Amino acid sequence: MMERISRGLEDVDIKWTRLTTIDGERGILRYSGYSVEDLVNGGASAEEIQYLFLNGELPREQELRDFSSKVERGYHVPAHVLSAISNLPRSSDAVALQMGAFAALAASERFKWDKTTDRDVAASTIGNMLTITANVYRHVEGMPFTEPDPRGGYATAFLRAALGREPTDEESKAMNAALILYMDHEVPASTTAGLVVVSTLSDMYSGVTGALAALKGPLHGGAAEAAIAQFAEIGSEDSVEKWFQENILSGRRRLMGFGHRVYRTYDPRARIFKGFAERLAPRNPEAYKYYRIALKLEELGIAQFGSKGIYPNTDFWSGIVYMSIGFPLKNNIYTSLFALSRITGWLAHFIEYVEEQHRLIRPRAVYTGPGERRFIPLASRS
Ligand SMILES: CC(C)(COP(=O)(O)OP(=O)(O)OC[C@H]1O[C@@H](n2cnc3c(N)ncnc32)[C@H](O)[C@@H]1OP(=O)(O)O)[C@@H](O)C(=O)NCCC(=O)NCCS
Repeated sequence: MMERISRGLEDVDIKWTRLTTIDGERGILRYSGYSVEDLVNGGASAEEIQYLFLNGELPREQELRDFSSKVERGYHVPAHVLSAISNLPRSSDAVALQMGAFAALAASERFKWDKTTDRDVAASTIGNMLTITANVYRHVEGMPFTEPDPRGGYATAFLRAALGREPTDEESKAMNAALILYMDHEVPASTTAGLVVVSTLSDMYSGVTGALAALKGPLHGGAAEAAIAQFAEIGSEDSVEKWFQENILSGRRRLMGFGHRVYRTYDPRARIFKGFAERLAPRNPEAYKYYRIALKLEELGIAQFGSKGIYPNTDFWSGIVYMSIGFPLKNNIYTSLFALSRITGWLAHFIEYVEEQHRLIRPRAVYTGPGERRFIPLASRS
């Protein structure tokens, strides 16, 4: 009986996809055939890759302009969506605040799956996410809400809206790379959670809310914050070895930002993030301290776990990049930045599934409880 169960749905294929392919043994990640290294090093913009995910091909100039204006239309979000954020305490988890905002969109937007409009709704939802994430950050920091100015493209518009200042080219470039690197990763827990939601033909916004709920956990997106919180706990470069010995080797705690269900080698995204961390961290004393700690911890982690196929994943280095850009380590903000990027992958998988291979996701459970029993009323129960 028990052998019917696939624990953690490991090795279960739940859909086919034209979006993303991962070779976990060789450390390769491709979006519609393009390697992530090629896209980031070749100077692709986040909006080009958003278009690629929703349309299957890279856009030509006019196509990109049309797409961008659909995304930008989503920068205006209804007032009640912003109220859903401001009504919650400033100490809230940033991903939970994003969930509140998407639940508010699910409450008010009239949505019906329709091949002729799904991609346009997805584009404006990607725009909504920019405004929601920027204002979630501003709420946590006690800053007034803002409506984004689209100049300079998605990454620049986001940083300007969130931070309330003009970002440098280097910051926009790093944010753009982060947006691309986190954009899709096949069907991890968050995408699968969202797919379960939309398989009931619930709306896109509810699908995103479900995906955000799964992303929040420390074994998934929460690791972006947990990894850097671990560097903060270590405190200094000199304490790395002692901390590793006491907590990981003797304490048997998990090294955050290491290990992956699919990769058995160095995560290709982590390598690119590490390059940005190397270039950006020296400008920010706190980020640089964590960068030095991370370098040493990475060396110890690979020496200890590499032979078991446990290597740094993307979350090991991304937090240092976010911190170098100017985002503080608090309230799970780094995971909300991961979500800002991943929403494109979620929506593209939802559309692929609902439009082309829809079936209600409803698995079974193998019952192992007692056999038939008679109910005894409370007063007669001894
Ligand atoms: C991501 C993760 C859940 C995937 O793990 P998984 O496929 O479920 O693998 P398992 O949890 O079954 O781990 C297999 C073995 O490797 C060990 N392992 C896996 N990741 C580890 C880590 N980060 N630190 C220490 N040991 C780890 C487990 O303890 C287990 O050892 P055992 O066989 O001696 O019991 C896991 O690697 C992890 O918890 N990583 C830390 C959190 C993280 O960075 N998440 C972000 C993922 S992108």
